[in-house]
Amino acid sequence: MIDITDRVRNKELQSKIVSAEEVANWIQPGMTLACSGFTASAYPKAIPLALAERMKKDPFTVNIWTGASTGPELDGALAEVKGIKQRLPYQTDAKLRPEINDGTVNYLDLHLSESAQLTRKGFLGKIDVAIVEACAITEEGNIIPTTSLGNAASYVQTADIVIVEVNTTQPLELEGMHDVYVPLDPPNRLAIPIVHADDRIGTTYIPCTPDKIKFIVPCDIKDHTRDLAPIDENSRKMAAFTLELLNAEIKAERMPKKLLPLQSGVGNVANAVLEGFVESDMDDLIVYTEVIQDAMLDLIDAGKLKFASGTAFSPSPAGMERFYKDIDKYRKYILLRPEEISNSPEVVNRLGVIAMNTALEVDIYGNVNSTHVAGSKMMNGIGGSGDFARNAYLTIFYTPSIAKNGKISSIVPMCSHIDHTEHDVDIIISEQGIADLRGLEPRSRALEVINKCAHPDYRPILLDYYERALEATKHAATPHLIDEALSFHSRFLKTGDMHK
Ligand code: COA
Repeated sequence: MIDITDRVRNKELQSKIVSAEEVANWIQPGMTLACSGFTASAYPKAIPLALAERMKKDPFTVNIWTGASTGPELDGALAEVKGIKQRLPYQTDAKLRPEINDGTVNYLDLHLSESAQLTRKGFLGKIDVAIVEACAITEEGNIIPTTSLGNAASYVQTADIVIVEVNTTQPLELEGMHDVYVPLDPPNRLAIPIVHADDRIGTTYIPCTPDKIKFIVPCDIKDHTRDLAPIDENSRKMAAFTLELLNAEIKAERMPKKLLPLQSGVGNVANAVLEGFVESDMDDLIVYTEVIQDAMLDLIDAGKLKFASGTAFSPSPAGMERFYKDIDKYRKYILLRPEEISNSPEVVNRLGVIAMNTALEVDIYGNVNSTHVAGSKMMNGIGGSGDFARNAYLTIFYTPSIAKNGKISSIVPMCSHIDHTEHDVDIIISEQGIADLRGLEPRSRALEVINKCAHPDYRPILLDYYERALEATKHAATPHLIDEALSFHSRFLKTGDMHK
């Protein structure tokens, strides 16, 4: 077994060090395992892999709660043996997705900022055990987290039993990069005292006591973060449109020269948009976001980033190497908080965040679908997009105008599912242009979205729909042809193509 005694600083706790297999055998069918992890960062790895091995011989299911998505050693391994019954609050695993969409897994797609409170107050059932990845355990029994915080602090607080996976691949220099603050629940909630993105309001560890810790498991498996695709032409165009928009906001004196704190979603488009700032003439940028990706390291190296607050540090494997090599430099710029705080509506609103997230589809009136393909099939989940979109100073959604080689128009007459309503969306950006919906009533919004963001192949069909809807409803507030509103989707489901 890997030696972790130097990382378990409480001598008595060293007697609780056991193998992952021993813990996997202790876990009972039907248990709810509330795990650390947010993106492929800081999730337990050795225990779920051992559990999946056990489930191969002795099939049963457990419920998995996390901060958000995790890596293949947790979601992927357990999905492969059909070992998950209930999953929340977000996931992106390609093996788990079909099980969510064929009835095997009960998936609760939750606003990430709310998920900790829902679990603390027992709305979702009882946690049987919290399983948390750590760099180290202190003499007092407190847990030093690794590359994300997610919901780990609330899970440890709520659970009666805690299991710690001490990961020796996570450098001890991570200690001090966290700010753990769990708010009191209503009616005792106080204002969250963050006024600047770099304000520290909590502890550098997850509070815990030795008696709560039942097992400690060594692990030497690295975070399985994903490579980013090279930035494509569409993403480059959307990044350029973002800079154009923000420069116009500065010129109109609606935004300070150094901008307001930036939030950017996950994935390639989001990373490309942030990369766009590296080449810009903006500096001293502040980031108040959920996930910190590679672009943030580039911004630090370019001298453009003043500070980044998030809940997960999740760069590509190359970005992770780069971070570890120069950790003393980068750690000064980065702070990790519980997702309840990184995504807090109160703090997002106070700081005046610029929210930049990606949509699957948007409709001509500005409603956004981030989650469901053709209305029914879950892609990933809402994640933190709703936390930011509703509360930001400026809310931008991105989407390439077409998907699947043009068989799908991402601009549709009516979204087949709505995560963010027209009331929350200020700007839509596609590779075609910027639709600025602020101050526009629905009929003007429709023309703005169609003319600025739709692909030229689909623009005439969308305009035709809108004009006929206008006539049929006699210029109603939000004109729709109810029998045809979802015709793009039904055509796609029947023929594999949204074109007429
Ligand atoms: N209908 C059907 N499929 C669509 C589609 C549409 N309108 N638009 C895109 N797709 C498909 C793409 O073809 C692609 O499929 P593939 O994986 O088979 O190639 C897939 O959806 C992903 O699209 P992509 O263009 O690569 O975008 P992405 O990786 O940036 O992901 C979301 C886009 C919306 C799925 C992703 O951003 C997400 O899950 N968002 C919700 C959560 C969120 O916003 N989190 C951040 C908040 S802080």
